[in-house]
This record gives sequence, C-alpha cells and structure tokens, in this order.
Amino acid sequence: MFDQIESVIAKMTLEEKAALCSGASPWTTTPIEHLGIPEMTVSDGPHGVRRVANVNDFVAGSLPATCFPTASCMASTWNVDLIYTMGQALAEECIALKVDVILGPGVNIKRTPLGGRNFEYYSEDPYLAGQMAASFITGVQSKGVGTSLKHYATNNQESQRMTINAIIDERTLREIYLPAFETAVKKAKPWTVMCAYNKLNGKYGSENHKLLVDILKNEWGFEGLVVSDWGAVHDRVESMKAGVDLEMPGPRERRVKAVIEAVRSGILDESVLNESVRRILGIVFKAAKTEKGRSFDAAAHHALARQIAAEGIVLLKNNGILPLKEQKHVAVIGLAAKEAHFQGGGSSHINPTQVDNPFLELQKAAPDTTKFSFSDGYSEDASFNQDLIDSAVKEASAADVALLYLALPESKESEGYDRPDLDLTLQQVTLIKAVSAVQQNTVIILNNGAPVVMSEWIDGTAAVLEAWMMGQAGGGAIADILYGKVNPSGKLAETFPLRLVDTPASINFPGENGEVRYGEGIFIGYRYYDVKEAPVQFPFGYGLSYTTFNYTNSKVSASSFKDVDGLTISVDVTNTGKVAGKEIVQVFVHDRKSKLVRPPKELKGFAKVELQPGETKTVTVPLDFRAFAYFHPGYNQWITEDGEFDILIGASSNDIRCVQTVSLQSTLNLPCLLNRESTLRDWLEDPTGKRVFEPIYQQMAKQMQATFGAGEEDEGGIGMETMNFLMELSLRDIFYFQEANLSMSPEDLVDSLLAQVKQQS
Ligand code: BGC
Repeated sequence: MFDQIESVIAKMTLEEKAALCSGASPWTTTPIEHLGIPEMTVSDGPHGVRRVANVNDFVAGSLPATCFPTASCMASTWNVDLIYTMGQALAEECIALKVDVILGPGVNIKRTPLGGRNFEYYSEDPYLAGQMAASFITGVQSKGVGTSLKHYATNNQESQRMTINAIIDERTLREIYLPAFETAVKKAKPWTVMCAYNKLNGKYGSENHKLLVDILKNEWGFEGLVVSDWGAVHDRVESMKAGVDLEMPGPRERRVKAVIEAVRSGILDESVLNESVRRILGIVFKAAKTEKGRSFDAAAHHALARQIAAEGIVLLKNNGILPLKEQKHVAVIGLAAKEAHFQGGGSSHINPTQVDNPFLELQKAAPDTTKFSFSDGYSEDASFNQDLIDSAVKEASAADVALLYLALPESKESEGYDRPDLDLTLQQVTLIKAVSAVQQNTVIILNNGAPVVMSEWIDGTAAVLEAWMMGQAGGGAIADILYGKVNPSGKLAETFPLRLVDTPASINFPGENGEVRYGEGIFIGYRYYDVKEAPVQFPFGYGLSYTTFNYTNSKVSASSFKDVDGLTISVDVTNTGKVAGKEIVQVFVHDRKSKLVRPPKELKGFAKVELQPGETKTVTVPLDFRAFAYFHPGYNQWITEDGEFDILIGASSNDIRCVQTVSLQSTLNLPCLLNRESTLRDWLEDPTGKRVFEPIYQQMAKQMQATFGAGEEDEGGIGMETMNFLMELSLRDIFYFQEANLSMSPEDLVDSLLAQVKQQS
C-alpha cells in the first residue's frame, strides 16, 4: 500500500491535497475520482451506528441500528470478550449501513460524576477504560471497519466544552488522563483519533502539537489519521502543523484555500501537508477494501445487546428479595417501566431497530402466576405531582412487591451540558420514600448514565439495581436479573459517592473565567476516597451477585523480580453459593515507599471468571513494568524504584481478599536531578550528591549552628531547629551565609559540586 500511496501523492496537485484534508460533507471525506481516491463515510458512535441517511444533514433522519448499552454499562461488565463481540456487531452494522469508520469509543476519564457525557465514557480508572477501549476497537477493526478514539484529550466536562482551558500538571496528565488513550493506541491501533474541543494548558486540542505529534504520533507510534472533533478547528494551518490531518465537518472552502495559500507563501511546509495526505490516504484505501452493503442480523444484535446489558447491570443492594419468586401481585411504578430510558442525548443518539418495553418484559418473565399493576409515579417533565405519588402508594400497599423504575430526566443529563447535582428529582425521591414506607419489598431500578446519591432514601428499600442507560434491549435484561434468569455480575467502574461535596473535583468544577484547574491531581475516583479514608455509598469495583465467591491460595510467580520482567499473580476463586455466577477479580498495586506521593492503590489487572456452584478456577493476572511504575515529571518518564509492593487481590476496591508482598529491582539508570536550586535535603537524599557534598556538609553544619544559634531562645537562638531549617534551603543560599569564608562565589561552588556529581554518576 505504501507504494500506491506515494504514487498517488506524486500525482496530486496542491489543491487536491488541501481538499482531501477537509470533509466534503458533515460525514464524508473528499473523493478524487481521477486518482482513484474514494470518499470515506464516518458516523457516530459509540454504542450504535448513527448513520444519517443524507450525508448533508447533521442530525436528521438516521437509519435504524442497534442501540447497544452505553459505555457506563459496558464498562460495568468488565468483560473484554463481550465488548470485543459488541465491536464486531457494530462493524457488521457499519458494513450494512455503508459506514467506513465509527466515531468511538470515548475514553475520557470520569473526573466528576457531574459530567453530562459520562454515560459515553467508561471509568474513573485509566487502566479499566484503556482495556475496554482496546477491546472495542479490536472487535470493530477485526471486520475491516475503522474506529475513532475520542476525545483526545482532557475533554472531561461539558461546561464551556468548546473552549474551557484545563490546567493540568504533567504527572496527572500522564498517569490519569492519557493512559486510556495510550493503551488503546498501542494495543489496538485505532484507524483514527479524534482531537478534543477544549484547551489543555492554554492550547486547543486541535492546536496541541505536544499531544498530537510529540506524544500520540511520535511517542506512541500512532499511524492512523487525526480527525478534528466536529468544529474543533479554529485555524486550519495551525491545526495542520499541530497534527490534525482531517478537518470535519465539511465542506470548508475557506479552510482549503487557507492551506493552499499557506503552502504557497511558505507558512506551511508542503511536507507537513503531504504527511496528512499520506495518513488520510492510508485509511481511505484501507476502508475501501471492505465491501459494504450486506444486511445485518437485527434480531441477533438485539439479543447481544440484552446480554451485554444484563452483564452491565449492577446489583447494589439486596436484602434477599431478589431474585423475585413469582410473587402474586407486583406493583410496577414509574414511567421508565413503560418508556425505556435506554440512551443519552446528543451525538450518540441512535434510531433503534426495536426497543424492549420493560413492563411487557416483566410479564414475559412471570407469565402465569403474577398480576402486574402499573402506575406512572412521576411525569416526564420532572415537575412535582402528589396525585401520582398517592396512586403509586395505593398500588404498592396492595401488592407483594413494588418495583420502581426511575429514569433521570434528559434535563439532568445529556451531551452538551453538565449535571446540576447528583440527585434524582424531588418527585422521584418523595415517591421512593412514600412507597417504601408502605411496602417493605420495594425494589429500585435506576436508569441513568452516572451515579446518583442515595443516602436520603436507600435505607428504606429492599433492593437497588443500577441499570444504566442500558441500550434498546435493557427492558428484557432488567427482567432477566429481577427473575434470576441471569445472575448479576456487573461491578461499578466508578465510585458512587455519599454526597456531591465528597467528590474529588468538587471544589474545582466546572472552573471559572474560562479555566478549570485539576487541583486534585492524580487523586481521582477511588484514589481520592482511599487517601482521604472517606466513606462512599458504593466503592469502585463493587457489585452483588446471587451467589458468593471465596478467594484462596493466592500466589506470585516471583517474590523478588526485575521491573522489566514483571510477574504473574494467581488466586483460586470458588463459587460457594447455589447458583452459577461470574466474579470479577481485581488486582491493585500499592507502592510501600516512593519518592513522589502515590495513591494508596491502583488497579493494574482484572479477570472475569464464570463458575458453577461449588466450582473452583485458578485466575491468573499478569503485571508488567507499568503496573509498578509512575510518571516522574523530573525525569519526564515512567520510572520504577527499588522496594516493596503489595499486590492486593479483591472483589472490589474496598474488599481486598488476599495480599502478596513482592520486592522489585529497578533496571533503570536514571540521571541525577540535582541542580542549582536543589535543597540541602535533595543533596543528602541523592546518593552521589551525598558522597560529593558530605565533607563540606560536616564543616558547614558546625558553622551554621554558630550563625543561627543552637535552637533554644535562652541560648541566644531564634527558637527553631537549625538543621530542619537548613534542609529546605538551596546549597547556593546556604553558601551565601558563608560567603566571607568562601574562595569562590556560591554559584561557582555549587556548579563545581554539580560537575563532580555528573562525573561520578
Ligand atoms: C461530538 C463527537 C461526535 C461529533 C460528530 C461532536 O460534537 O463531541 O463525539 O462524534 O460531534 O457528531
């Protein structure tokens, strides 16, 4: 293909090259017939194919396609194989609908549960998000259809989404906000990456050379094309220099002209344009190889959507009422039981092939024995209506069980705006309290894309099911879980907090004056709650089952190992209950001692295993260099340090079942970081620095005691411990105090010490 591309480029005029780098319509690239360059069609994503029938329309009239569960639900399955299968199904629909590239997955980190678009993203944890995305991409691309990994990067809020400037330090960027992209790019090679709208540290996503070229293309080896988010480009020439190969949507005549003029006037080197053309042609030709137009099996995909939804639904609370036992009279309450709330608002909105009616699906699950009554409970417009509550209470008190289906209204959650709070509506909270006051068997079924707070009402309930925006087959999936046809096995990919004020970004969100400061740094999600020792409603990784699991016999492949070799942990998991079930084993790493502060634990591996009652399986999870490393901004690289690490094997982040301690030897030969500003403490902590400086230090300590006093006020001191005080001064500053006794200037003396350190290290 390389030769084909080069020979096409050689024949292209400047005008043709520039035209290729802008869309021809909102959803297609520019074809150049006489050169054999076909057009390429892209469509949203990420949990279904939103193929707009007429590519000149932005929104109107998309063709029917399967609406699979949204990313929050997908991630809660922790089932990478299932996500791969879903990716393949999406690709089949792309092929049928003549789509070359699906615009997804989205891997932005859930910095706060207030994010309006969190339903489209996977997790608060970069490792989990990265694994999910890699599986999704591999699944789609295995069928010859492309993906677009989005929104690169730090697009973590909807407030001022096109312009907000995210202020993020380098370590936080590398450890929290980039790794999911990095994993997906390195492991799954997405055909395209979509740049974000917002600014990062002052630069727009579309003009951020460091993100797009230095990191994505050069450091991670991304070979596909970078496409702008729709309307993210401000200055086409600057964006091309910064690495945006394809601007969307089109047509954009002025932008094409700007590129032509920039090349003619020498502002833009033609080699930069050629590089973008090369990347675009690589993907366009690759896409064309997949013949389009076959039909897809809508019924099979609906069934798959149901399977994924059932695995992603998380059972949060159960006093034993679930699974239901075909009770005689079930009061079904809540609009969401009749009108499924299965997807979110915005660009991901799918025109579904069919939609399960949750109420009818319940009836199918218990066909003969049960009477199902229904009352609305609340109205669509989220207003308060006591009459609806009163009639629901009446139904509930006459029944054996009350099932409350509650959906968060669109006004509270969608692409385009952030959530105002984490609450259900006043009507819904009042409804839960009133119903659970008269009916002790009250089960709550939630449809939302991100956590809601529950402390006001959860105690009165018998069970709570987080059913997410569960895709078009979610109604059936809920019935499967409620009646025990499927044993719940979903676990939370994000923490459910007790209160909004407890959440890590709460005092730095959504920012002001055009800027949002990620002041909580690397302490996002459970990393934050762990370090604060703060209670939460439900921790990361949590989810109940209708069976129980035991963890025994944990082992490590080596108790002492080199970072580059990594190691493998194993544990035996036994199903100790009476029904078959699936367990998600989570592996966290805790660094006992590090130069820079680290979170108490970080997820570095997981596995999902299916077990029959009484069955035991050995689960193994590999841990590589990166499982133990952290990003050190001083060295500007991922580093490991010699020392002990605890490997925590758990059923959730708050339910650690086994611990293994291992000893790591770093193979890194890191440069010395001492410089003119390094403090006395820095020098004494650096082995070479200490060796070089020690003789001077001994002498100096005595003289400094004399200058600053011994510490006690009554001995003439100024009431401080002199050495502690000195530890925080730079050597240069300390030398200033002794300048009279020095044969050279303080700067020269520090420089000569630095030169010795350099020589010896
Ligand atoms: C969204 C993208 C989407 C694109 C095309 C943008 O507003 O941020 O996620 O793919 O529109 O619809």
